Amino acid sequence: MKNFKHRHLLGIEPLSKEDITQILDTAKIFKGICKGTNKKFPALKGKLILNLFMENSTRTRSSFEIAEKRLGADTLNFSASASSLSKGESFYDTIKTLESMEPHIVVIRHSSPGSSKFLANNLNASVVNAGDGAHEHPTQALLDAYTIREALGTLEGLNIVIAGDIKHSRVVRSNIWLLKKMGNNVTLSGPPTLIPPGIEKLGVNVEYNFDNAIKDADVVMMLRIQRERMVESFFPSLQEFNMLYGLTKKRMENLKNGAIVMHPGPINRGVEINSEVADSKRSVILEQVSNGIYVRMAVLFLLAGGRINEISN
Ligand code: CP
Repeated sequence: MKNFKHRHLLGIEPLSKEDITQILDTAKIFKGICKGTNKKFPALKGKLILNLFMENSTRTRSSFEIAEKRLGADTLNFSASASSLSKGESFYDTIKTLESMEPHIVVIRHSSPGSSKFLANNLNASVVNAGDGAHEHPTQALLDAYTIREALGTLEGLNIVIAGDIKHSRVVRSNIWLLKKMGNNVTLSGPPTLIPPGIEKLGVNVEYNFDNAIKDADVVMMLRIQRERMVESFFPSLQEFNMLYGLTKKRMENLKNGAIVMHPGPINRGVEINSEVADSKRSVILEQVSNGIYVRMAVLFLLAGGRINEISN
């Protein structure tokens, strides 16, 4: 089995279909061995991983930490609010200071698009993008892909609808790159104010009528309205949004047999998704969270030069 050929994971855009498959297959092996056993691998023993979360996170931060511990790495969790950034130290000086502590891998979440690329250009460590503004969130797309493949038995030729706030979502960008590379039909749905003009250039369909969009869907992925990234006021109102674009019980009942419902989280119940749907048998939202651990183990393992046969034998 070949080594993973990338030094950083900054986005899905630079990955090939083979790279994506390599990550998902490695994650599957980790899941097969670790699920329910809490088994650890010493693959990253002696390596220091710096978790640089400059924006809030529950799922990504926790699952990276668990993945790092399962791989035996030493971890340093940097808290922006408790750091000397508040005394006026620049981001550049902060990262150069942290680099002198010789991390092997830096995991970064930041509100600025391109922040992970900035780090990759200025550090010797491998960099993993854990979400940069509205640009990309590659490990989220990888865990989404893993969950789809596991639930439906394939990651090719599916009708996948991604709905809600497309404009401010980094998850949708990474998912479009990934799902199109794997040969799926991707439809975006949401109010025209929340869909960037020209997005069809990425090879996706746009359907403003949500009921039409989900008729033939194998996967419906709902997205939260990202108020923290909005400079304009939100239109329509949350109530109107739920009426036109919310995944309600009634809409769920019209989905075809076997269709699954996804959400990267955090969810806003009663806005983009109703409780009866989020907690239904069709929902794989908690599987997405759990699979995030194995996918992030795979990413860290492969970036550190690990080979799949080292863990499967
Ligand atoms: N999906 C996701 O990135 O969730 P968190 O913001 O909680 O990490």
